Amino acid sequence: MEHGKIDWNEIWKERMAAQHSANKEVENNLWNKKDNAERFWKRTQKFSDRTQLTLEELPLTPQSRVLDIGAGPGRLSIPIAERVAHVTAVEPAEGMRNLLLNNVTEKGITNLDCVSKRWEDLDVEKDLDGPYDIVIASFSLGMPDIRDAIQKMEQASSKHVYLYWFAGTSPWEEHSVNLWPYLYGTNYTCGPKCDVLYNVLYDMGIYPDMAVFPMEYTNDFTSMDEAMDFFKSRYTIETPEQEAILYNYLRDELSWENGSISEKADSTRVRICWEKKQNN
Ligand SMILES: C[S@@+](CC[C@H](N)C(=O)[O-])C[C@H]1O[C@@H](n2cnc3c(N)ncnc32)[C@H](O)[C@@H]1O
Repeated sequence: MEHGKIDWNEIWKERMAAQHSANKEVENNLWNKKDNAERFWKRTQKFSDRTQLTLEELPLTPQSRVLDIGAGPGRLSIPIAERVAHVTAVEPAEGMRNLLLNNVTEKGITNLDCVSKRWEDLDVEKDLDGPYDIVIASFSLGMPDIRDAIQKMEQASSKHVYLYWFAGTSPWEEHSVNLWPYLYGTNYTCGPKCDVLYNVLYDMGIYPDMAVFPMEYTNDFTSMDEAMDFFKSRYTIETPEQEAILYNYLRDELSWENGSISEKADSTRVRICWEKKQNN
């Protein structure tokens, strides 16, 4: 590394590691849990406008072969499979993967296969049947070394790479920033955002297109008990003291309208895409 030059991949690694260690249990359990996967799926079905816009901006053709990394329950993989020749979904979390496979069966989709590995553990040559015309990683960049991850995406792609990520502090991180000093006596470190990602790409000689867009949704609960269960697992609440802190916080933060309780979770997201340089 050139003297005085910022190593953006190190910054990514540090912020991702800090976020993973603060959220240890959440990281292990969040998408493995059936309830969380189902809640995510329901929410994406309710707020489907954004998915529609994403499908319109992807250069899909009936001949395309698409790789969807961290596919979740198939918010993108499933409608993409209905439009293209083949989709490979990479999904390491059991809860998400089971829901994806149920959704695939329910919709009668036969051109989607699923690889159950984390991207960083996957071997592009051995585990995939590439190359893919379009490689997508949508809100699934929880990867320790983003430069390695991007190199593998380029290896797997014959043309396009589309990443979707966060700009600015997400609403759930704002809650963590507010709660951490009271729950754990420490400050919360937020995960790496699109500024770090852009700089890593730039240093790799990749100059991507970037487009910022809002993503608005609510997390709805039928009772305060249901809300507490959800947030207790999100913030790894273990003691009655922590539970009281969380309860008081949520009572003020959640929105109560016509007897229903919801978390308004508006955030700013970004699409980062480029065409792979062709080797002559
Ligand atoms: C918020 S969901 C997004 C799902 C889907 N891509 C979408 O946009 O609706 C994040 C997904 O990324 C997956 N994921 C997180 N880290 C990953 C990694 N290192 N490798 C592969 N998938 C990962 C999670 O298991 C989860 O299903």
